[in-house]
Amino acid sequence: MKISVIYYSMTGSVFQLANVVAEGAREAGADVRLRRVPDLLPLEVIESNEHIKKGLDMQQDVAVATLEDLTWADGIALGSPTRYGNMTAQLKNFLDQTGPLWAEGKLAGKAVGFFTGAATMHGGHESTILAMSTFAYHHGMIIVPTGYLVPSIHATKTGGSPYGPSELGNKNELSEEERAVAAFLGHRLSEIAGKLAQ
Ligand SMILES: Cc1cc2nc3c(=O)[nH]c(=O)nc-3n(C[C@H](O)[C@H](O)[C@H](O)COP(=O)(O)O)c2cc1C
Repeated sequence: MKISVIYYSMTGSVFQLANVVAEGAREAGADVRLRRVPDLLPLEVIESNEHIKKGLDMQQDVAVATLEDLTWADGIALGSPTRYGNMTAQLKNFLDQTGPLWAEGKLAGKAVGFFTGAATMHGGHESTILAMSTFAYHHGMIIVPTGYLVPSIHATKTGGSPYGPSELGNKNELSEEERAVAAFLGHRLSEIAGKLAQ
């Protein structure tokens, strides 16, 4: 199975989640591409903020996503921090370049899941995942949610929802439950992409 994990992360939290989703997919036997979308922040904004500089520096070795990473994959995980309950302009900008793929139905029938990060508990975990998912409806993709299929989704006091993995609070380390939900998405995406390919 071929899985692309494509994300944006400004200060590193969603990057951590992306890594765990990728690990989960690898454990399930998938060939995985981890990719970041290009940034849109002006250089002076990056240079003036230590937190952002550190977050972007830690991702320097991650290859930049191309549309081919979408067509190559049998299953795709898309991640973005929340921005006022919606996805970032950076991820949206990447998805907005998929018109030619949409016109040819190139992503139709592929499995897709979503993950996010938010600074506050009620600041938009679910709404951001739902906002990202409209992309999948238009392309005719098969949305893979996490459901309540792992105990961590019941147990978590931080991120991790039935809609998909999430991170709460912009922490240096994911909680055990956040990791478990993220790894589960990677696993489930691989499994379902495999079944769809049969
Ligand atoms: C412009 C802006 C808007 C944000 N909006 C929200 C929000 O609506 N709710 C929330 O909980 N956090 C909000 N945040 C916080 C980020 O979503 C949070 O810090 C993010 O998940 C960190 O992810 P990253 O480390 O991968 O960049 C916002 C941050 C910025 C810069």
